Amino acid sequence: MEATLIKHIGHTAFRDIDTFVQGGGYRAVEKAFGMRPEEVTEAVKSSGLRGRGGAGFSAGMKWSFVPKESQLPKYLCCNADESEPGTFKDRQIVEYEPHLLVEGIIICCYAVGIHSAYIYIRGEFAYGAEVLENAIAQAYSRNYLGRDILGKGFDLDVTVHRGAGAYICGEETALLESLEGKRGQPRLKPPFPAVVGLFNGPTVINNVETLAAIPSIINNGADWYAAIGPERNRGTKLFSVSGHVVKPGVYEMPLGTNLLALINDCCGGIRPGRTLKAVIPGGASASVLRAEECNISLDFDSLAKAGSMLGSGGAIVMDDSTCMVKVAHTASRFFYEESCGKCTPCREGIGWVEKLFRRLESGGGRETDLALISDICDNVKGKTLCPFGEAFSAPLDTFVKKFREEFLEHVRQKRCPFGNPPPDPVH
Ligand SMILES: Cc1cc2nc3c(=O)[nH]c(=O)nc-3n(C[C@H](O)[C@H](O)[C@H](O)COP(=O)(O)O)c2cc1C
Repeated sequence: MEATLIKHIGHTAFRDIDTFVQGGGYRAVEKAFGMRPEEVTEAVKSSGLRGRGGAGFSAGMKWSFVPKESQLPKYLCCNADESEPGTFKDRQIVEYEPHLLVEGIIICCYAVGIHSAYIYIRGEFAYGAEVLENAIAQAYSRNYLGRDILGKGFDLDVTVHRGAGAYICGEETALLESLEGKRGQPRLKPPFPAVVGLFNGPTVINNVETLAAIPSIINNGADWYAAIGPERNRGTKLFSVSGHVVKPGVYEMPLGTNLLALINDCCGGIRPGRTLKAVIPGGASASVLRAEECNISLDFDSLAKAGSMLGSGGAIVMDDSTCMVKVAHTASRFFYEESCGKCTPCREGIGWVEKLFRRLESGGGRETDLALISDICDNVKGKTLCPFGEAFSAPLDTFVKKFREEFLEHVRQKRCPFGNPPPDPVH
């Protein structure tokens, strides 16, 4: 099927507003302006679009939670932090389809009655931020942004804000704190951002891919979108595939695509001479699937049922040359460095787990370390303010449970059986 999100990937021409408009761009804004705001929200709701940032919450439902009347200004925050390891799909939209994102932002703001939107982009995406700034300047110059847009009496300002490079600032409430100029640490929920968000005003927070899907829903209709993908999992999804495949990259496929088909048909299969060992299907915070579990539909519900998650759609593919203890240790090290430190179980637990994985990979581990890791992970789950605790404890525990023999082999041989050198200490 035809791509709608990354149609122009690799072509810089569509960064130019004239080329974009000639190709049918900003038509959805004009169409949306001909509808009542509630109708736009209703269309997004009935399209079945679920958030693409990880949690998969209904986009239209989220918009409808924002109170119509508010004493304080309402805001939209577009989450372009893209900090999940293995995920590199939003940056394709930002760099090659910036106007599609701006178009989605305008439609969302019109539907919810928002006059001020921020794009929170991770600090490292300096180039993407520049592309966005240019697109936004062009949109102002053509009156798709600013005052009295297209003479319809609707005002909207969009500001790009660069983060400073912290994983936790992708979590929506830490993002809000960071945007307000504070340390990026999560807030307690409730209240949810739709009611008390940025500067205490009602706030919609949506991922880049979620917002970029809006123009095609408005142009083609909610029914068209709702016909793509399985029940409750509608539309296309960007899958960023990395690791041991022949052709890693970003692929736009309908939700419900089989994981093995993605690997074999889109990505050219596993590297020659190797076999599939495991896949992390939704970024580092999704639990790993063994090869025999990979004949699975890539959608929110199927992966949740299999004890993993679709998350950001970042699939990390590993062949039989991979040491799973090393992978688990590398992931734990990332989470250790990125824990914001606000909640004790997360701050202390992840440091402890990282040490145990390092000891195991170095050959100094004990059999009892496996149960200890699971016990620590158990004591983090559900005991932190934000989902970061689950984001590391569930997948790390799964490595130990699914690849127990490989961990025990490290204990028995007192070294990595794959010949990996001991990992460097954490500084
Ligand atoms: C630790 C952590 C990191 C996250 N990082 C991102 C991110 O980089 N980008 C993103 O869109 N959502 C991220 N999220 C999810 C956001 O909190 C939020 O659910 C999302 O931006 C909502 O948008 P959506 O409904 O369009 O998916 C993260 C969540 C957690 C717990």
